[in-house]
Amino acid sequence: MSPRLLVGHDLTRLNTLGLPCVADRFVAPGDERELQEVLKLAGHQGWPLTLLGGGSNLILPERLPGLVVQPAMADWWLEEQDDTVLVHAQAGVVWHELVMVLARRGLWGIENLALIPGHCGAAPIQNIGAYGVELREVLDAVHLLHLDNGREAMFTAADCAFGYRDSIFKGSLEGRVVITRLVLRLSRTPRPRLGYGDLAGRLGADPTPLSVAEAVCAIRREKLPDPAELGNAGSFFKNPLVAGEQAARLLAQSPDMPHFPQPDGRVKLAAGWLIDQCGLKGWRHGHFGVHDRQALVLVHFGGGSAGELLAFAERIATRVQERFGVSLEREPRLAGAD
Ligand code: EPU
Repeated sequence: MSPRLLVGHDLTRLNTLGLPCVADRFVAPGDERELQEVLKLAGHQGWPLTLLGGGSNLILPERLPGLVVQPAMADWWLEEQDDTVLVHAQAGVVWHELVMVLARRGLWGIENLALIPGHCGAAPIQNIGAYGVELREVLDAVHLLHLDNGREAMFTAADCAFGYRDSIFKGSLEGRVVITRLVLRLSRTPRPRLGYGDLAGRLGADPTPLSVAEAVCAIRREKLPDPAELGNAGSFFKNPLVAGEQAARLLAQSPDMPHFPQPDGRVKLAAGWLIDQCGLKGWRHGHFGVHDRQALVLVHFGGGSAGELLAFAERIATRVQERFGVSLEREPRLAGAD
C-alpha cells in the first residue's frame, strides 16, 4: 500500500517551537519501501523535499512548498556481542523513549542523553550531546539513502565527520540524504559519566543507567521548558568557540566566566552565560522571549512567526557581539531556506 499523501497539512503541532506552518504536501512513510517510493515521486514531480524528524531543532516558515517527509518507521532491536550490545534504531523511533527502555535494561552509553527531544534519525545531524556525552561516542553506524538516486549506504562514525553540534549531514551532505537507521554500541559493563555539573552529587554510590537517566531528566526539567507547555527548540545558539587570546582577555574582565579549553587551543564559552550577562534572561518581546531559567533557550508564547523569531534572535546576538565581541551561531536549522 502506498503511504497517504496529505495536501495542505498543518505542521504547527509537529514542531516543538509551535510555529504555524502549512506544508503543501506531507507524507509519513512507515517503512523503507514506502520511503523509496515517495522519494521517487518527489523526484519525478520536481517537488522540493523537506525532511522532518521530531521537529525539535527546526524553524519552520509559514508555508513549505513541495513535499515534507517524516520517516515513521519506528522499530528497534538488539544484537548481542559479548559485553557490548548493538542497538539498531530506525529513524522514527523517539530518542528519549529509546534511552529509557535501554537504561531500564541496564545498558550503558546514552543515559546522559535522556529527555533530549526528537527522533533517532535526526540525532546524528547535530551530534546531540548533553551532560558530558555526545552521540558520536556511542555511534557505530548510520544507514541512509541518497536522495538523488535512492542508493542505500552505511556510514561509520568516522565517515560522519562529527564535531560539536556538527556533522557531515549539516555540511556537504545537507539536503542530500535521508537517515533511515542508527546503530549504537552500548555496554553492559558500568561506565558512568558523571563529571558534568552537579550530576554526581545527585546520585548515590552505585549508579545504574536508569538512575543516571532519571537524574539527567530531573536536571533538565528544572532548567529547560517543556515544549508541550511552552514552545522552544532547546538551545537556540551553539556555545561559541573563541581563540585562546580572546578568552584570556574576556577572563581578565570577568574571572568567573564559564570557559572550557579545547584540545585545539580554542576555548568554548557558555552562550547562556553571555546572554544572561547582557541582562536578557527573561526578556520578552512580542511573541518570543528568553527563557527565565536558561538564557540559551528562546521560547514562543504563541502567535509568532519564523521571521519574528529570527529578528528577536538577531537582537540578542547583536547585544552579545557588542558587549563581548563574540558571535553567536544559531543552532536550529531553518527549513526550506538554509
Ligand atoms: N549559564 C548562565 N546563565 C544561563 C545559562 C547558563 O550563567 O542562563 C551558565 C551556567 O551556570 C553554566 C554554563 O553557563 O556555568 C553552562 O550552562 P549549562 O550547564 O546549563 O549548559 P549550556 O552550555 O548552557 C549545553 C547544551 C545543552 C545541554 C547542556 C548540558 C549547547 C548549545 N547546549 O548547554 O543542550 O543540555 O549543555 O550538557 O551545547 C540543547 O541542545 O537543546 C540543550 C539543551
